[in-house]
Amino acid sequence: MMLMRFWKKKIAKYTNTKYCALLNSGTDALTLALYVAGIKRNDEVITCSNSFIASAAAIVHLGAKVTFVDVKEDQNMDPKLIEAKITNKTKAIMPVHLTGRICDMPSIIKIAKKYNLKVIEDAAQSFGSKYKNKHAGTFGDIGCFSLHPLKNLNGIGDGGLIITNNKEYYERIRSLRNHGIRDRNNVDEFGYVSRYDSLKASILMDRLKNLKFVINKRRQNAKIYKKLINNPNVFIPDEIKSEFNTYHTFVVQVKKRSELIKYLKKNGISTAIHYPIPIHLQKAFTKKNIQKLKLPKTMKQSKEILSLPINQFMTNKELEYISNKINNFYK
Ligand SMILES: Cc1ncc(COP(=O)(O)O)c(C=O)c1O
Repeated sequence: MMLMRFWKKKIAKYTNTKYCALLNSGTDALTLALYVAGIKRNDEVITCSNSFIASAAAIVHLGAKVTFVDVKEDQNMDPKLIEAKITNKTKAIMPVHLTGRICDMPSIIKIAKKYNLKVIEDAAQSFGSKYKNKHAGTFGDIGCFSLHPLKNLNGIGDGGLIITNNKEYYERIRSLRNHGIRDRNNVDEFGYVSRYDSLKASILMDRLKNLKFVINKRRQNAKIYKKLINNPNVFIPDEIKSEFNTYHTFVVQVKKRSELIKYLKKNGISTAIHYPIPIHLQKAFTKKNIQKLKLPKTMKQSKEILSLPINQFMTNKELEYISNKINNFYK
């Protein structure tokens, strides 16, 4: 137990926050964060449709309504479109820091303050990402992360965490993850089971020591791609000066996507699409008015996005090979 407290302090220190609670998944982190922030049945929460399903699922499971807003060229929430979506039922904004790129948080926080909305950051893909040197997950009320094996800071098996400067939120989430228990014999409220055991936590801390290498190598890989891929048919969103992106994925937007995928596969290069079907078009959303939503950039990107290999074990030769193949394809 002592050991675990030490680890949690390390994560809080790394992100420059006061409190950190380890949980069973990033989805639990989002759900419990929304719950302690007071989101309940019929409230509305604004988020994006181009995310992993969990962003919306956490909102839906609390009985609240998901309001989708479109994104910018860089795939992140467009702050200019948020105000038009706010109603008297809107209670929170959930920006998603997709691909390891942080959203325009100063603009989002400004709107949240104006309308007295909570901000729960879905930073599942962005541990270590920064905006003007401030960590993802530290702009809003609670930052939520996934520790899934595919993430840059990855544990063994499922896992997640929240960071916050709000002691009340932290203590409530700590209690809720363990049946709502306050102490040995007292239960404050009905909770859940979302504990992260000490064995997993100690392995996670080993991974935390390695995170700087992981992030730097991924950033170097991205730099090489940006230098070498040189074709108007491939759009690579810029990393602007105030951003420090951690490249959980390296997503380009391309023309003739399916042909390119086939060509790359033939040449031994595997790619992926994160995510081909926007959340509002998933079968899980049966309400037709949601499926009819107009989200032009989200839709366009869903047809053009392609994730290239970016992991920290890649060699420069492999990155050059992939870049050359992409350039050759469009020749
Ligand atoms: C943007 C986003 N939100 C939430 C989650 C959910 O995290 P987990 O799989 O740990 O529950 C993920 C995981 O992939 C994610 O990418």
